[in-house]
Amino acid sequence: MLKSISKTFAAIAVISTSLFAGSMVAQAAGGGEHIEVQDWGFKGPFGTYDRDAMARGYQVYKEVCSSCHALEHLSFRHLGDKGGPFYDAEYPNPNDNPVVKAFAKDWTVERIDQESGDVIDDTAIPADKFPDVFPNAIAAAASNGGAVPPDLSIIIQARTGGADYLYALLTGYESDENHDGVYHNSAFPGGAIKMAPPLSDDLVEYADGTKATTEQMAHDVVEFLAWSGDPKMEVRKKVGFATFLFLFIFALLLFMTYKEVWKDVEH
Ligand code: HEC
Repeated sequence: MLKSISKTFAAIAVISTSLFAGSMVAQAAGGGEHIEVQDWGFKGPFGTYDRDAMARGYQVYKEVCSSCHALEHLSFRHLGDKGGPFYDAEYPNPNDNPVVKAFAKDWTVERIDQESGDVIDDTAIPADKFPDVFPNAIAAAASNGGAVPPDLSIIIQARTGGADYLYALLTGYESDENHDGVYHNSAFPGGAIKMAPPLSDDLVEYADGTKATTEQMAHDVVEFLAWSGDPKMEVRKKVGFATFLFLFIFALLLFMTYKEVWKDVEH
């Protein structure tokens, strides 16, 4: 009896380890040869986001990327959701979170005036979505040498190589030399991109005193965009693990019951 239990235990352990290993390999796959794999804390079955890095990443998005790229799937209040960069347990409703309110105030959104029906500019509130940067794709292309800056809210999910690709892209410029607005970037497919190098050392001044090197800013904005594309990842992993544990114990109990029930029957 003990022997077979230990055999079953071993079999379940082997299956579970290979399942976990499989999921890690799946996450690491993708990307070109020049895309270096980085050591992200949010990878793997127990990975979580780094909240300080996300908060710094928001600052990079706001001060640098937001002049060209939108975040159409995100509202300001999401920043204060549980698991978000500015979550505060004192304000379970992120609409009341003073940090989120202050951030929203930095942005202007368009509203319909309720009396005249005119479109008017107004200060954003936490419930607002991040505003569009350009009125449409034609206007976006016209301002960017014919290329449209894509929405960044789910860019990590939308590109092969994900976080590693985005990091490689942001750190993949050797110089800011260009031919008619086309820059060389070793990570971009084809090597020629119409985005000028957006980052350079000390471009932002981090509130927490972290030195703003290009690599640091690239790392932080990737952390922020990894969260924006998959804000429920941490909860999902926790629930997944709990389910796994439950099924494991359940399988063990079931097996022991089976042995107990059939113990006096010859077979
Ligand atoms: C001055 C405008 C501008 C700024 C600022 C800017 N970008 Fe871009 N970005 C572009 C344009 C234009 C493209 C499209 C380039 C192309 O298709 O050749 C682009 C493309 C991209 C892409 C898509 C690459 C791909 O695989 O298709 C990503 C990701 C990106 N930018 C991230 C960022 C991040 C992150 C920042 C801030 C650190 C940033 N950008 C700042 C203009 C900008």
